Amino acid sequence: MSGKAAFDYTGKNVFVVGGTSGINLGIAEAFAAAGARVAVASRKQEKVDAAVAKLGAGALGYAYDVRNYEDVAAGFAAFEEAAGKIDVLVSGAAGNFPAPAVGLSPNGFKSVVDIDLIGTFHVMRAVHSHMARPGAIINISAPQAVQAMPFQIHVCAAKAGVDMITKCLAIEWGSEGLRVNSVIPGPIDGTEGMERLAPGEKMRAAVVKSVPMQRMGTPDDVAEVCLFLGS
Ligand code: NAP
Ligand code: COA
Repeated sequence: MSGKAAFDYTGKNVFVVGGTSGINLGIAEAFAAAGARVAVASRKQEKVDAAVAKLGAGALGYAYDVRNYEDVAAGFAAFEEAAGKIDVLVSGAAGNFPAPAVGLSPNGFKSVVDIDLIGTFHVMRAVHSHMARPGAIINISAPQAVQAMPFQIHVCAAKAGVDMITKCLAIEWGSEGLRVNSVIPGPIDGTEGMERLAPGEKMRAAVVKSVPMQRMGTPDDVAEVCLFLGS
């Protein structure tokens, strides 16, 4: 049986930050298929509009950059006014490109930390008062959080911080009925992240070989974990 059929999110509100493409859009689609009202947010209005159209009736969208705290907070306030409290919040906005440490400008390092790490804090800080209790928060992390990698110093530093945000908030907010978890996907096929980190057939084959199952994951694999953690 598919994991999607195992969970019923009818009447629940799910907000996916960075939910307009790739893995996060797959997560948003899975929650919508399980009956939830879903909202997505990201920088580009055209991506937001396309995702909302794909997610179907009742879906909502907000165009903002997670680096701007006021915009993030305004998005959650607008959502609560339109649809009520948020039952499940997924935070997955991120930026990545491969670059050797000495080839990375201070602003290049800062840009990824601003999006992935500070952006995650912005989302957590702003969503707290808009969450239902009980509620679930899921941060989309990455293997870089726990595994050092060449050309990924910026992402490793940022995602390790994201996982610490998850752990700190799980402790601070658990007693008020908010469960906070990170999900760490492996390499996921057909995504912007993998296009950037393993372009071309040769690199793709090397990545596949490094996975015990000898295949990359799919957005559905990650979505089903999120359906479980949100339940
Ligand atoms: P993606 O399609 O590029 O998804 C990133 C999303 O974040 C997009 O919706 C993007 O939309 C949004 N975004 C980027 N910068 C933003 C900003 N400053 N403010 C608001 N939204 C922003 O990439 P993906 O590969 O599917 O990755 C999704 C998540 O999975 C990321 O957190 C990534 O670290 C994680 N991950 C990916 C892999 C993989 O194999 N791909 C593996 C492990 C973990 P806009 O461009 O419209 O802003
Ligand atoms: N190698 C080295 N440095 C790079 C780079 C690369 N491939 N791409 C960007 N940078 C540097 C830029 O040179 C700039 O630094 P500078 O001002 O010192 O020149 C800095 O990063 C910011 O670049 P900019 O393009 O202005 O940032 P942005 O805020 O418009 O975009 C990024 C953020 C760079 C993370 C961009 O790649 C992005 O929007 N990514 C989202 C999609 C994505 O990465 N998906 C995969 C998720 S895992």
